[in-house]
Amino acid sequence: MLKGKHIVLGISGGIAAYKAAYLLRLLIRKGAEVQVVITPNGKEFITPATLAALSGKPVVSEFFAANTGEWHSHVDLGLWADLMIVAPATASTIGKMANGIADNMLITTYLSAKEQVMVAPAMDLDMWRHPSTQRNVETLKRDGVIIVEPASGELASGLSGKGRMEEPEKIVEAAEKYFATQETLCGKKVLITAGPTYENIDPVRFIGNYSSGKMGFAIAEEFASRGADVTVIAGPVNICLSGEDIRRIDVTSAKEMCRECEKVAADADVVVLAAAVADYAPAEVAETKIKREGSDGMTLKLVKNPDIAATLGAAKRPGQIFVGFALETDHEYENACKKLKNKNLDWIVLNSLRDPEAGFMKDTNKITMVSASGEALAFGAKSKRQVAADIIDTLFGELSGK
Ligand code: CTP
Repeated sequence: MLKGKHIVLGISGGIAAYKAAYLLRLLIRKGAEVQVVITPNGKEFITPATLAALSGKPVVSEFFAANTGEWHSHVDLGLWADLMIVAPATASTIGKMANGIADNMLITTYLSAKEQVMVAPAMDLDMWRHPSTQRNVETLKRDGVIIVEPASGELASGLSGKGRMEEPEKIVEAAEKYFATQETLCGKKVLITAGPTYENIDPVRFIGNYSSGKMGFAIAEEFASRGADVTVIAGPVNICLSGEDIRRIDVTSAKEMCRECEKVAADADVVVLAAAVADYAPAEVAETKIKREGSDGMTLKLVKNPDIAATLGAAKRPGQIFVGFALETDHEYENACKKLKNKNLDWIVLNSLRDPEAGFMKDTNKITMVSASGEALAFGAKSKRQVAADIIDTLFGELSGK
């Protein structure tokens, strides 16, 4: 998996830096080409000479080479690399990465990274659980960084708890898993619906819902970061998609969304229906603004919108994977199973409005994935980007077989 891969190994100044030498050796042994970028503090813990000897390349630390004045291009590194691993990542480096404080070569390299970035934190247990560190780690996760969670055990301070950098073998495993998923998803066509739909009543009013589009967009960004060819069909949302290669089609109503989906779905390998589609639309749309004067009230006649999931599900080809969402307030599992069957889905992602961490406009979600065979996998509350990663990891077994 790692043969021929270009890896930037970022090392910051923590005692676990000594383990970075072993990590580097493992990566090289697996056939990767590794360029080390080290922070000034990192050099206090491990010498560039050791790292240069192991990697076979001069170590990059300063913006300019002291003897020749040659400029070290972090931009070129970003173009060269297939993966950047920051190990160990101290609390300070994580904080700088999360907030874009580009005061050393490692952070500028991170900010120019076009490739996936993976971070293996290492620090004392109190530093790890400090709200500031946790906030920064959450920010990195939201930005799509893979966190190799620290392990529990003896720490340099003499205390014992969570904060030890994960063992190099485990970091290599995480890198291999990343490339395996990448390989599986590379070139796979993924269609995602996201956001609400608006159903016009007159030129100034509509029927809509609270969907922000965040979950659908997070799934799109996660698929794209793993090499998939992604199309998002989005209802009216106020958020941007980060992911230059994602194709985005903006629509307003359920009918438009359905029309656009039908053009793309037949060709897709994976279809994720994350939009909160309005089930009904006004039977007639007034051409001019409906006036208040002269009426005591009004009754709107609504007609049923197309069920996009069911329409696409009915035309599903063997080999395609369809994933729906079910946001429920009661009888969650039963309702989700019913939808899964009626819409001919392979998986349904269930979240409950009774859960404070789930639902519209939130940055977090708490899901249970239910498969067509009835197996249910429950996950804890996580950022929507992390939830997206869990969904794709769960589908991954299926994708690799196709
Ligand atoms: N869905 C869809 N088109 C619709 C309604 C729903 O594509 N007109 C999709 C949603 O994107 C989601 C799944 O179907 O993936 C379930 O949506 P939900 O609104 O929970 O289900 P409904 O079938 O509308 O049932 P109800 O609103 O009665 O719970």
